[in-house]
Amino acid sequence: MKLADNKATLSFSNGSPSVELPVYHGTMGPDVVDIRKLYAQTGMFTYDPGFLSTAATQSAITYIDGDKGELLYRGYPIEQLATQCDYLDVCHLLLKGELPNAKESADFHKLVTNHTMVNEQMQFFMRGFRRDAHPMAILTGLVGGLSAFYHDSTDINNPEHREIAAIRLIAKMPTLVSMAYKYKVGQPYMYPQNNLSYAGNFMRMMFGTPCEDYVVSPVLEKALDRIFILHADHEQNASTSTVRLCASSGTNPFAAIAAGVACLWGPAHGGANEACLNMLEDIQKMGGVAKVGEFMSQVKDKSSGVKLMGFGHRVYKNYDPRAKLMQETCNEVLAELGLENDPLFKLAKALEKIALEDDYFVQRKLYPNVDFYSGIVQRAIGIPVNLFTGIFALARTVGWIAQLNEMIGDPEYKIGRPRQLFTGATARDVKPLAQR
Ligand code: SDX
Repeated sequence: MKLADNKATLSFSNGSPSVELPVYHGTMGPDVVDIRKLYAQTGMFTYDPGFLSTAATQSAITYIDGDKGELLYRGYPIEQLATQCDYLDVCHLLLKGELPNAKESADFHKLVTNHTMVNEQMQFFMRGFRRDAHPMAILTGLVGGLSAFYHDSTDINNPEHREIAAIRLIAKMPTLVSMAYKYKVGQPYMYPQNNLSYAGNFMRMMFGTPCEDYVVSPVLEKALDRIFILHADHEQNASTSTVRLCASSGTNPFAAIAAGVACLWGPAHGGANEACLNMLEDIQKMGGVAKVGEFMSQVKDKSSGVKLMGFGHRVYKNYDPRAKLMQETCNEVLAELGLENDPLFKLAKALEKIALEDDYFVQRKLYPNVDFYSGIVQRAIGIPVNLFTGIFALARTVGWIAQLNEMIGDPEYKIGRPRQLFTGATARDVKPLAQR
């Protein structure tokens, strides 16, 4: 980051001395006012719940222009990466800063492939869960549990440890997600198959059984690989910020990623794809497209607490570019499966059309986000609704790790420790029980 020739001056109407604050700019996006010395100079904090105007770090990984609806991973537009690369090449890009050449790509694919198995003890860890446990509850436990198996890669300050932990997490997430699924459906786990692609191997571990050979559909394999790319990273979102804050204590990478999995589960974040599909199914049960008007009235009535899941975004005040690509993927997958008339897809498109023409949404700049169509395509592929967020976590693991590694490598990083505006009771004495 570069010191701007612009400066910020903070003055106070009560005559307190004004403070001059440096302004920095990056390569793209808003400049920042550096307030690190504000408390020391004024005895005051800034106040920004939800971090609406706060840059918690500098980063060179992902850039979002919310007004234009642009998303770049290391400078490359998501539209080009999603159509010209595969997920592991994008992982290489996010982790190392550059797309791999042919040899680097082959080596990276091989390295990940050779780490896809998990310790056999993991199966016994699974047995502690109820069969009807939510997959995200299982995954949060399994990912955290990885730190119990890989002591040789838990020192977050050791670059080699971070490197092998990154590969292990990227490689093992598909195995863990498919194990969570197989555990729920009571089928035997499928071991990874090294001659399959990353997405193909995941599909076989999910949908294959020991009773017969599983043939990977190239169209579905490509669609899933694209879904992974679209979810790979997204700047300083809630779960990434969770991973950064968690890792800033020096805990091991597996524990920090487990914290990210837990945060992503929320319906306002990665859990929105599951919530969105459930919303579409509810409207379908109510009467489908004919009932969209009634549903939209509920959404616009704040007291209902009903939100149009898969719509709106803290940063995008235009169409989420991932939603456009996800809709295209939806078209391809549904056509491949002969489901062009899928009622939920038709309902989603009708909802989107109505919302984009409705003042309530237009005024608030609410557009479809990545979660609006992802559930429909995952459901068509055969992924159960309550596993959608698990797929999101699988794909986002590389982004979390890249952001964690960037933070640990940043000489400015310290343990994160936000402050507060205290509005509670002032100091008082404890009264004896008889007097309370
Ligand atoms: C992800 O941050 C990331 O990058 C996340 C993510 C990633 O890749 O990591 O992109 C993934 O989490 C996508 C978002 C998935 N969540 C949903 O689809 C859930 C539905 N969306 C909303 O909950 C909401 O839009 C958020 C949480 C996504 C954003 O919330 P903000 O930025 O805090 O915005 P807000 O709640 O202040 O909304 C502004 C206004 C409010 O109305 P007013 O008070 O101004 O009258 O818009 C309304 C909100 O009530 N609003 C919605 C709405 N989203 C916002 N009204 C109806 N339906 C919605 N979906």
